Amino acid sequence: MIQALRGMKDIFSPESERFVYIIDTASKIARRYGYRYIETPLLEETALFKRSVGESSDIVGKEMYQFIDKGGHDVCLRPEGTAGAVRAFIQNKMDRKGGVHRFYYHGPMFRYERPQKGRLREFHQFGCESFGLESVYEDFTIILMIKDIFDTLGIDYTIKINSLGCPECMPDYKESLITHLNDIRDGLCEDCQRRTETNPIRVLDCKVQECQAMLQNSPVIVENLCKACDSDFKRLQSLLTSHSIKYELDSKLVRGLDYYTKTAFEFVSGEVGAQNAIAGGGRYDRLVEFLGGKPTPAIGFALGIERIMELVKLPESEREGIYLGVMEEEAIDKILKIAHRKRATERVYVEYSKRSLKAHLKAADRVGARFCAVIGEDELKNSQIWLKDLQTKEERRVGIEEF
Ligand code: HAM
Repeated sequence: MIQALRGMKDIFSPESERFVYIIDTASKIARRYGYRYIETPLLEETALFKRSVGESSDIVGKEMYQFIDKGGHDVCLRPEGTAGAVRAFIQNKMDRKGGVHRFYYHGPMFRYERPQKGRLREFHQFGCESFGLESVYEDFTIILMIKDIFDTLGIDYTIKINSLGCPECMPDYKESLITHLNDIRDGLCEDCQRRTETNPIRVLDCKVQECQAMLQNSPVIVENLCKACDSDFKRLQSLLTSHSIKYELDSKLVRGLDYYTKTAFEFVSGEVGAQNAIAGGGRYDRLVEFLGGKPTPAIGFALGIERIMELVKLPESEREGIYLGVMEEEAIDKILKIAHRKRATERVYVEYSKRSLKAHLKAADRVGARFCAVIGEDELKNSQIWLKDLQTKEERRVGIEEF
């Protein structure tokens, strides 16, 4: 028996109903906030992810589905959606046009991680990317939009925010952090000793308890921001407060991707286990320029659909649609015609083989239809159809035309 690969899942009904419901809800809300759909390839040049997500990140360092294709190109299944959106933005010369461009997307992402609850190797994200606005009001609006999505889905969450500074303030901060990390080097895990050289701020969110204990007196990013970053971060907080949006400051929130500047945020849930981030994102004002485009500020986020599926409760499904069946072989032609017309507005189930009325009623109930409509011998003679409303239990005969 050939099985799906480890960390990859089939999603079918009833789970797929929740999958579609999440994407539909998020898409509808994103469109109201001015976002348009973008579709980018699943496969991109490996260099794109190395340069954007960052060579020192775990994603690029350990988790890429990378291979050489038949033409000898070094390619990679996308581990996330931002890099492809930025590449598309530049390649289609939108950076030269100026103005504001907002995109949303959804689809599979691939990371060769160790599978566990809430952590898959193929998973699905819904994401948004907004290009062209430096204003902190866009940071606020994007957080508000994610809040709208989760509130509509009926999910509880905690919002965590941090600022990761900019090229003005980050170099000085990094230097003082490295000095501190070198002082406590012997107490840090092997990974953190390596990160001190490759990507020091990633030491801050190390999950090893001993490291966290050692880090208690390490310098805090938001206490070392330049004037502009500090004032934007304070403004963001005052906006959230004045809109009664609860949030937590998390000075250890550094995100696992290297492209972030200034605002970074995560939405976490207490109900999904250790992998508790249900959405994450932030500003990446340098990435467009870094990938060869005209300098363009940008901000975005992505939410993890499988993690959210664990939390969403669909409204109790009501009976829906019409089940059509025959008790006489000759009536099938009529039923097929009725089905075709009814499908313009209704969900229709057709049973092709002739059966007893009892068998039809049972089948209609099983598929969750609201109505069971059957043509038998008498109905065939009189151009009628027998109809039962499975919710109210009402039964009657009606003319086919009327039906
Ligand atoms: P990320 O935090 O790596 O950010 O992923 C976003 C969300 O995807 C996570 O919060 C989580 O819900 C889900 N996720 C990540 N990895 C897995 C996994 N292995 N299994 C299941 N779910 C997972 C990004 O990907 C950025 N591109 C977000 C962004 C967009 N930043 C700016 N624009």
